[in-house]
Amino acid sequence: MKHVILDCDPGHDDALALFMAMGDPQIDLMEVTTAGGNQSLEKVTKNALSLIELVGKKVPVYSGCPTPLVKAPKWAGYIHGETGLDGVKLDPPKTRVAGTHAAEQIVKTIMENPDQYVTLITTAPLTNIAMAALLEPKICSRVKEVIMMLGAVHTGNVTPVAEFNTYTDPEAAKVVFEREWPITMIGLDVTHQAICTKEVQQRLVKANPELGEVLNGLINFFRDSYKDEECFPDPPTHDPCAVAYTLDPSVVKTVKCPVSVETKGEVTCGMTVADLRAMAPKDCRTQVGLALDVEKFWNIVEKAIANLKVEK
Ligand code: RIB
Ligand code: CA
Repeated sequence: MKHVILDCDPGHDDALALFMAMGDPQIDLMEVTTAGGNQSLEKVTKNALSLIELVGKKVPVYSGCPTPLVKAPKWAGYIHGETGLDGVKLDPPKTRVAGTHAAEQIVKTIMENPDQYVTLITTAPLTNIAMAALLEPKICSRVKEVIMMLGAVHTGNVTPVAEFNTYTDPEAAKVVFEREWPITMIGLDVTHQAICTKEVQQRLVKANPELGEVLNGLINFFRDSYKDEECFPDPPTHDPCAVAYTLDPSVVKTVKCPVSVETKGEVTCGMTVADLRAMAPKDCRTQVGLALDVEKFWNIVEKAIANLKVEK
């Protein structure tokens, strides 16, 4: 059993990741925290609450930092739309957030639970995570592991070298990677292999027909955005890769190596610099994903989503 805090910015692929975390019984989803990224904090928080209610789960949601640590916010409405979940009609949430200081809650949950108990999965810019580590440095040795969809060993998406979650808040990413905690970075080198083709989409809908309308709404909108904005014929489902790795680490090929984050470069700001040159230092606690077992990945996604029941 993995006891998880999911820090996210729903977002179409965050929504699928959240469904997986709620669907698979190997995950005890303790709480969800939100950060601005795909859309404003208010919008992604509302989306998280609605998605949780849609499948009848009771998971507390804590909203976090409304803006990045230093940079001016630049949301990804060009991919996720005005609501952050365009293409899907969700009922407005009936529940309210459990709190509005996610960083404090992350610290509280990690410090109040046993050592090596909490797994942090992040699928958003790292603003909340950096704030939590600055508030209470002890969480870095106490958390079991940090599994993040973020960064890239090779090519970026928002710029030639920077991935969106890093680019949105590079200072937060720098703070996180400079701390001594076990980090698995699942970057674009992995997630660009998680392409949701129409055949895969049909398979997911077949696995859970009552969720089918929402799944089709999410994936169809995401496909159109990726076609228009990044010339992908089908959308890469980034965030589910982090949950899939949490469920079965063998789904991603990883290598241990130090990662630094560029925060000053005029053209390289937001780049995650993975040092693959030689053997990683003995005390290196960071590993990066290089490849995805695509067949195993979609089996994990399908199995997790199949368990969800839509609240009538
Ligand atoms: O670059 C992909 C990442 O940015 C994903 O987490 C997606 O949801 C967006 O937030
Ligand atoms: Ca995300």
